[in-house]
Parts: sequence; structure tokens; C-alpha cells
Amino acid sequence: MQADRRPTAIITGAARGIGAATATALATRGYNVVLAVRDRATAGQAAEAVTRLGAAAMIEQCNVASQVEVQAMIEQTAERFGRIDVLVNNAGTIDPIAPTGETDAADWAHSIEVNLVGAYNCARSVLPHMLQAGGGTIINLSSGAAHSPLEGWSAYCSAKAGLAMFTRTLALEYKDRGIRIFGLAPGTTDTDMQATIRASGINPISRLDRNRLVPVHEPAEAIAYCCSPAANDLAGHELALNDDAFRSRIGMRLLDATG
Ligand code: NAI
Repeated sequence: MQADRRPTAIITGAARGIGAATATALATRGYNVVLAVRDRATAGQAAEAVTRLGAAAMIEQCNVASQVEVQAMIEQTAERFGRIDVLVNNAGTIDPIAPTGETDAADWAHSIEVNLVGAYNCARSVLPHMLQAGGGTIINLSSGAAHSPLEGWSAYCSAKAGLAMFTRTLALEYKDRGIRIFGLAPGTTDTDMQATIRASGINPISRLDRNRLVPVHEPAEAIAYCCSPAANDLAGHELALNDDAFRSRIGMRLLDATG
């Protein structure tokens, strides 16, 4: 397959964790991948995994909290690949972890800037390209924390709750114009973010046994599923990878069955 005939996916925060696994999952399915990362130097391994699969990988240094940097990243993508089929709003931060009365105001605002405004920035810049092309897919990484409060995570919970509503609003605005929007809560996944959470000891999630965490390839596979036409009827919804009905639909081992 010619590189320029492949569809293109942008994944934010793709240097590690769920983002890096998603880069591999989408490259496996024939996508060229733009790894939009905070620090270019951290993305080499994830980019090599993509190119080993025969896809093109472009590393773009981009702080999603900066609309200027996001706009530049999207323009670079359009220039290099000529099309943008998928945006995965994966970049996120769990900090600050502390009771609200002990948080720093700038840290709290930064969480909203990354987890919520970052997704807006990327969607805002990519939508004109997708609309012009007549379609596209945007996947926002949600969380159980969007719907259930957890002590010590007021910024993260608030940002993810806002992101869940952003997903629904985007879907309402653009579902009839060829844009498929998904929210996906990956479940407690074995990444650096969970290591930070464990180290905090602040709430029940921090005390989960690491062996019970989801491996990164599972949310990556679920994201890849959402990119495919098989997920058309699920567009506009928030999906949860700890929902066995969804897992069964995408051919994933059932959580209940594995105990
Ligand atoms: P991670 O901490 O391993 O990776 C997050 C990535 O986002 C890192 O590469 C980081 O550099 C990047 N990032 C952070 N701030 C950024 C910024 N301003 N600009 C660009 N990139 C930035 O986290 P993980 O676990 O892979 O999480 C991925 C997504 O899944 C996040 O949105 C997270 O909230 C969500 N999620 C993760 C869960 C888990 O249990 N790991 C559970 C629920 C949701």
C-alpha cells in the first residue's frame, strides 16, 4: 500500500501508555500515525513500532493545552498526509492529586487545560479538515471519574465530566455531517498514570492490585474498533471497556468470566 493512500490518525499523548498502544493498533490496521507528544524525545520507541508495521509515523511536539501548538500540529499533519481521518484525544494528566483544600490553583487549572481544553483545542482544529473531507472520527478518552466522584481527584473528575459532555455536544452538532464522535472509558489500565495513582494512596483506585489492571492493548483495540465502520451505530455514545456487553461485541475476554 502506498503511504499516501493510507488513512491518517492523530493520537495525542502517544509516547507511552494507552496512546502508544493505540498507535500500534492503528498502524496494524493500515493507518499512518501522527504522534502528538509533549516532548519529542520521548516518542522514538512508539514511532518505531509504527514504522516497523510499514506505516508512516510523524512525531509532532505539541502541548495540547496550547491552541497555537495544536493548530500547527494539525496543519503539519494535513500538509504531510493530505488527510486526517481519526483524532484520538488521549493526552491526559491525573495531577493534582490532593484534597481540594490543599491543591494549588494553577495545578488545578492546568488539569482542566490539558484534560478538557486540550480535547477542545484538537477537535476545534481538526473539524474543518474532517468536514471538508466529508467525514472523520474523534475519540475522547473518558473515565469512570467522569461520572463518579473520587476523593483527591477533584480536578480530574471535573475535567473528565466536562469532557463527557463535550463528547455528547460534539455528537449532537456534527453527527449529521459525517463526523463520528465517541467517548471511551478504558477502565483501570496498567500505565504510568496508574503508577502515579498507586503512589498517592489517596482513594480506593490507588489501592487496586496491579495484577487486576487492564493491559494497554485492550483499550487500544477498543479504540481501533471505534475507528471502523462496525462501530457506526455506537457513534455519539460514551463506551466503557468494563462493560461486558461492549467487550463481548468487540470480541474481548469478558471480565466476569476471568474473575
Ligand atoms: P499516561 O500518563 O501513561 O499517558 C498520558 C500521556 O499524555 C503521556 O504520554 C503524557 O506525556 C501525555 N500528556 C500529558 N499532558 C500532555 C499535554 N499537555 N500535551 C500533550 N501530551 C500530554 O496515561 P494513560 O493511562 O495512558 O492515559 C491515557 C488516557 O486515558 C488519559 O486521557 C487518561 O485520563 C485516560 N484514562 C486512563 C485510565 C488508566 O487507568 N490508565 C483510566 C481512565 C482513563
